[in-house]
Amino acid sequence: MTKEWILVLGANSDIAVATARRLALDGCNAYLASRNVCELEKEAAHLNVRYGVEARAVFFDALDFDSHAVFYAELSPKPVGVIVAFGMLGDQLAAQRDFTVARAIMDTNYCGAVSILEVAAADFERRRSGFIVGISSVAGDRGRKGNYVYGSAKAGFSAYLSGLRQRLSASGVSVLNVKPGFVATKMTAELGLPEKLTASPQDVAEKIVAGIKKKKDILYVKPVWRLIMWVIIHLPEYVFKRVNL
Ligand SMILES: NC(=O)c1ccc[n+]([C@@H]2O[C@H](COP(=O)([O-])OP(=O)(O)OC[C@H]3O[C@@H](n4cnc5c(N)ncnc54)[C@H](OP(=O)(O)O)[C@@H]3O)[C@@H](O)[C@H]2O)c1
Repeated sequence: MTKEWILVLGANSDIAVATARRLALDGCNAYLASRNVCELEKEAAHLNVRYGVEARAVFFDALDFDSHAVFYAELSPKPVGVIVAFGMLGDQLAAQRDFTVARAIMDTNYCGAVSILEVAAADFERRRSGFIVGISSVAGDRGRKGNYVYGSAKAGFSAYLSGLRQRLSASGVSVLNVKPGFVATKMTAELGLPEKLTASPQDVAEKIVAGIKKKKDILYVKPVWRLIMWVIIHLPEYVFKRVNL
């Protein structure tokens, strides 16, 4: 991947920052795309000075679906890989009361990802190479009362990545679905996460880069999450309705 360009969408996310730095260590140049371009420019300068790679800050709004085709068309040179890191946890209770909140969660985590990935996927399919990384969530493995709007959007995203992987496998394009479990980032700063189950953004980045190289399909960052979610998925509904997860 040396000196190739990677497109990082939602590049101000703590996981995205760690991943772009880890890829820079391997010599990858990066398009850092998100809404807060000021922050992106600082990070682009950091990548350049610290790792000697090229990095460009570009404005990207996952919710501005109509802009996505032009956004991608203007990238030159074209990226060899794209990482979808933007996301919105949102507030479940607010989403129950106010559909505009629910819709923002669904549009950010699902529709925005589908909108931009269809554009990138068509390009990779035509070039018969490339990789796609989608950061989904274990929350999508089974809807829970505490965050089912977010969880359902991530479930949709995981199903989307599954279908996209099947479609693109004939073209040699890999699609990695990352299910990080708990990660200590600004998204979860207020949640008081259990230390043993929580990864750092650097742990996630390391696993993502290894997953890209091995062309993995699905990645649980801490393996214990695969087991936890296996148990949760297999709880019968009459038990699940009674547990406080
Ligand atoms: N942290 C966790 O425990 C955890 C667990 C499972 C999955 N995830 C997923 O992992 C991904 C990264 O999470 P994180 O914890 O690193 O998040 P984070 O640090 O809170 O960053 C989220 C980023 O998403 C970007 N974003 C939100 N709406 C956007 C939009 N409309 N257009 C473009 N960018 C937008 C924001 O960009 P700006 O700053 O430019 O506004 C923000 O920097 C997310 O998809 C999240 O759902 C996180």
